[in-house]
Amino acid sequence: MTDPAAIDAYIADTLGLHDPLLDDVNRRAAERGLPEIQVSAAYGRFLQFLCRSIGSTRVLEIGTLAGYSAIQLARALPTGGELITLEVDPAHAALATENIREAGLADIATVLLGPASETLDGMVTSRPASFDFVFIDADKESYPDYLEQCIKLCRPGALIVADNVVRGGRVIAPSPSDVSAVGTAEFNRLIGADPRIEASIIQTVGQKGHDGLALLRVL
Ligand code: SAH
Ligand code: DHB
Ligand code: MG
Repeated sequence: MTDPAAIDAYIADTLGLHDPLLDDVNRRAAERGLPEIQVSAAYGRFLQFLCRSIGSTRVLEIGTLAGYSAIQLARALPTGGELITLEVDPAHAALATENIREAGLADIATVLLGPASETLDGMVTSRPASFDFVFIDADKESYPDYLEQCIKLCRPGALIVADNVVRGGRVIAPSPSDVSAVGTAEFNRLIGADPRIEASIIQTVGQKGHDGLALLRVL
């Protein structure tokens, strides 16, 4: 099989998905030693499609890194739209805030520093049922907690996308020491049994290997 990373590059080249500003975001992140675990260009465009297709104006992201996916989501919003992205690492949050400013999105996008579960608890109290679209992409062991909090934060008809729920198939029988696979396997079990949502999981292959994303619609 042709290297999936080469195919991701082919897709980005062929569809003209390269963007000088987003390329800079990735370059700065690599220079500062951040892990290269941002979504691909095509995945970012897919998130924009989903976000726009339901007319989202208020978007929540869990796991900012350098702001690559946050900038794409913020760009999918109309004037007056709002994106909140949660990040626990101060260096990541600082770089993302810089990148968001550089992108001219400071009025739309805000990085909130701190453990996401704590920030989300506060938001569940202060602004329940207020988001149209959520992208979950932080620590995998907390996905079950994020699920519950995000359902409370979403209006009916909202979409929730959760990255990395296949983990090369390790979710089928996770080794107890693999907390990421244990967390995402539990998340997958929960979404299959929750009457408040409709759920699907799509496998992906690409620059980051074999993984998958969960798509949830809040009823
Ligand atoms: N969505 C980003 C990639 C996120 S990588 C993109 O595609 O561009 C995952 C991020 O989640 C990392 O920056 C990591 O520091 C952050 N993270 C890990 N645990 C967290 C927690 N408990 N709360 C908030 N953020 C967390
Ligand atoms: C990892 C995290 C991600 O969000 C991702 O998309 C790929 C890998 C990781 O922590 O290894
Ligand atoms: Mg991810």
